[in-house]
Amino acid sequence: MARWLLALLAPLAWAGAVPEEPRCTVEGADAALSAELFLRRFAFSRPVILRGVTDNSAFRALCTRDKLLAAYGQRLVRLSTANTYSYRKVDVPFQEYVEQLLKPQDPTALGSDTLYFFGDNNFTEWGPLFQQYVPPPFRIPGTSGAYSFGIAGSGSGVPFHWHGPGYSEVIFGRKRWFLYPPDKTPHFHPNETTLAWLQHTYPTLPPAERPLECTLRPGEILYFPDRWWHATLNLDTSVFISTFLG
Ligand SMILES: *[C@@H]1O[C@H](CO)[C@@H](O)[C@H](O)[C@H]1NC(C)=O
Ligand SMILES: *[C@@H]1O[C@H](CO)[C@@H](O)[C@H](O)[C@H]1NC(C)=O
Repeated sequence: MARWLLALLAPLAWAGAVPEEPRCTVEGADAALSAELFLRRFAFSRPVILRGVTDNSAFRALCTRDKLLAAYGQRLVRLSTANTYSYRKVDVPFQEYVEQLLKPQDPTALGSDTLYFFGDNNFTEWGPLFQQYVPPPFRIPGTSGAYSFGIAGSGSGVPFHWHGPGYSEVIFGRKRWFLYPPDKTPHFHPNETTLAWLQHTYPTLPPAERPLECTLRPGEILYFPDRWWHATLNLDTSVFISTFLG
């Protein structure tokens, strides 16, 4: 689907917005990227944004607010706190999350007090939807992919953390990413939101201390290698899906 059409459709499906920063310092690749080059250049060494490698317009059409509420409104979803180490999990009906908790991030709230729907998906219930998702094409030998699906409000996000390698694709909305290599631990407080870090810490960073960063739009897929630090910020109410390789 053309980008301008997505830009028109996204606000109809899910609302809200935080201003965008046009800088993108993550490498990009398109459908010409081969599996061999992906393994050699990116898989073990640096993030990359894949553009035009899969078409998830059918999956996207199932992920509008109305479609998801009709299919899953009464189902329980498990929410996590949006801090580096999520201590608390809360189960609520999906409709209650969408109608009452899915709001723009309060800039003064802590991540440890913000509930976020990402991962902990019940694959029995959500499996039929996830079967419609076309995963990113490249695998690291010896790994398989596990999905984590989420929806979150504008200004929300997860502060810096790391784990194994994987992909994250935006289905609706825009998501800004900040990344540091494993040997460059960023300055952050684990309970501070990404929004607060962006407002207070990011402007003080000398150019050499800045993270790699980019804003992803629907259809764009970020690959992050093993143990890379990353923080996310949803600029709009966003729908997204990660494929963790383990
Ligand atoms: C997942 O959903 C199924 C079907 O509704 C339910 O029986 C099961 O208890 C759920 N699993 C968890 C871990 O909540
Ligand atoms: C973060 O918040 C949690 C939950 O409120 C708390 O238990 C923990 O001590 C806090 N961590 C830090 C480093 O302040």
